[in-house]
Amino acid sequence: MKRTKIKELLNSKEEQKEVLVKGWVRTRRDSKGGFSFIEINDGSCLANIQVIIEHSLKEFSKVDKQITTGSCLAIIGRLVVSEGKGQKMEIQTVFIEVYGTADVETFPLQKKRHSFEYLREIAHLRPRTNTFGAIMRVRSRLAYAIHQFFNDRGFAYLNTPIVTTSDCEGAGEMFQVTTLDLTHPPQVDGQIDYAQDFFGEKTSLTVSGQLEGEIYALALSEIYTFGPTFRAENSNTSRHLSEFWMVEPEMAFYDLDDDMDLAEEFIKYLLLDALENCSEDMEFFNQRIDKTILETLQHIIDNQFERLTYTDAINCLQKSKETFSYPVEWGLGLQAEHERYLSEKLFKKPIIVFNYPEKIKSFYMKLNEDGKTVRAMDVLLPKLGEIIGGSQREENHDILLKRMKEANLDPQHYWWYLDLRRFGTAPHSGFGLGFERLVQFVTGMENIRDVIPFPRTPKHAQF
Ligand code: 4AD
Ligand code: MG
Repeated sequence: MKRTKIKELLNSKEEQKEVLVKGWVRTRRDSKGGFSFIEINDGSCLANIQVIIEHSLKEFSKVDKQITTGSCLAIIGRLVVSEGKGQKMEIQTVFIEVYGTADVETFPLQKKRHSFEYLREIAHLRPRTNTFGAIMRVRSRLAYAIHQFFNDRGFAYLNTPIVTTSDCEGAGEMFQVTTLDLTHPPQVDGQIDYAQDFFGEKTSLTVSGQLEGEIYALALSEIYTFGPTFRAENSNTSRHLSEFWMVEPEMAFYDLDDDMDLAEEFIKYLLLDALENCSEDMEFFNQRIDKTILETLQHIIDNQFERLTYTDAINCLQKSKETFSYPVEWGLGLQAEHERYLSEKLFKKPIIVFNYPEKIKSFYMKLNEDGKTVRAMDVLLPKLGEIIGGSQREENHDILLKRMKEANLDPQHYWWYLDLRRFGTAPHSGFGLGFERLVQFVTGMENIRDVIPFPRTPKHAQF
């Protein structure tokens, strides 16, 4: 007999003589009248299905003690319209099989609500809670919506390498990949001899697929990547992971305005998709995680993002009566507190800050005519801060070469990137969206470690 998912059973328009349901027991309640009421969840949706077992059922006495919170069951029974409040359909059991028991003394997910910090220590069991089930369904749906958005617009999905020899962001925050013996690495002239390493040169895990993305944008016009990226920065914040997923569209013939238009359309599309296709889970977040989340997302969808230059942003911050911990001065980076003030307090909506000083941005960003700023843009969301970083790319060979040297990058090493500017160069732009920051924003979760199945952070990569 074929199993039916709980989502389908709960949405069934009709009663059914015989259904097979499989899942994990969330709660069990016994009535004096000789019945057990068991709530089962299989992760197909937030809601449980109620299963009723009559104690006079033949197998019941054999399995009675094994049916506890956390145990896994297969149940065959009649699907009937529920007379109880709060559920549409329930199952009257005719057959039970226990797949796996869960000891009451040691199974950690009993009725009590646990802190997210504690649940991180049991990352192998936390998906069986309501919150983590909901997060992972929304995450999965958003990943699908990302592919749909780009596919509908004719972008090609590109897989860029995980192991790389280049540091896209030039920040030196890379995890090295090596098969050399770390206790006795081979040396020449007092330096490690990478010629003897697996790839014959020094390699690392990628921090961004952008540089390789540009290669394909300058052939297929519009591409996007969606893959894991790795950063060895020692930031222990609620917004940073050492391993995270990034979506990076790269488009030939787009200038910075086109880039910002796409970023705004993209974010609105994804928020709307979550509201429309994950309504049960979103309702749950609105009740249990952040009481304003539905309203916030709808507000963002309905309103234009505020666009202002970095220079205007600095002016706004200097004019504000706010006291900041970090200095506000033209030429310095915007700190999280500055970004939050602008989007949360001043404009009360998403903002896009563009034309940043060239000194604080990456080498590949296109220099403006003023010679001081680059065509960079960051999308900042209220509460969250930066969700997208992007730019128009420098397409002029000589300016790019100069910027590379200033950034202490070896042009010979990036010969292929420079080649793109020697053969058929074109104006082009792109951006990167941090996928976990998106999931965090949509679900209202406070900590980024709770929106990725297995968070990697400094000193933490257990499972
Ligand atoms: O601003 P970033 O560093 O930009 C780039 O990597 C560009 N190469 C993107 C491009 O133009 N193709 O990173 C992009 C986004 C950030 O806005 C943020 O949302 C996310 O990636 N991000 C992180 N998310 C989680 N943990 C971290 N440590 C992150 N670092 C960046
Ligand atoms: Mg950035």
